[in-house]
Amino acid sequence: MKKITACAFLVFTLLACNSSNDKKDSSTEKKDNNTAMDNPDYDAGLNLVAKSDCFTCHKLREPLVGPAYGDIAKKYENTPENISMLADRVINGSSGQWGEVQMLPHRDLKKEDAEKMVKYILLLKN
Ligand code: HEC
Repeated sequence: MKKITACAFLVFTLLACNSSNDKKDSSTEKKDNNTAMDNPDYDAGLNLVAKSDCFTCHKLREPLVGPAYGDIAKKYENTPENISMLADRVINGSSGQWGEVQMLPHRDLKKEDAEKMVKYILLLKN
């Protein structure tokens, strides 16, 4: 019995280690813009984006299924109006802004969280 508990503990520790490593990797990948990273919106938004499905279709610097986040940041000025509009598009889905492929809706996202995600994306210029 003791052995099993010890084993379970080990597996748990390994899993915990693994996931914190993943986090570290993805944040070092983005360490190319120090001023953006100093902004508190950066971490809050990145956490939400990383938890959701965004990175399956978006990369930072190159288009994937969707446009690169850097390109989105270049296209839209960082204003409250644009943040609100883009958050609505993340929630309701978007089409025709970048090409033929559409972004599926994320209806269970709160507007507040979608805005945090967009604030992070708009920090990724250059
Ligand atoms: C299934 C693939 C897919 C996923 C998942 C996805 N996107 Fe997109 N996204 C796209 C595509 C494709 C476009 C371009 C749509 C268009 O042309 O209007 C896009 C566009 C955008 C835009 C720009 C919209 C505009 O009006 O210019 C933002 C911001 C965005 N995505 C954020 C997100 C965020 C945040 C998430 C995670 C919650 C996410 N995306 C998840 C495919 C995806």
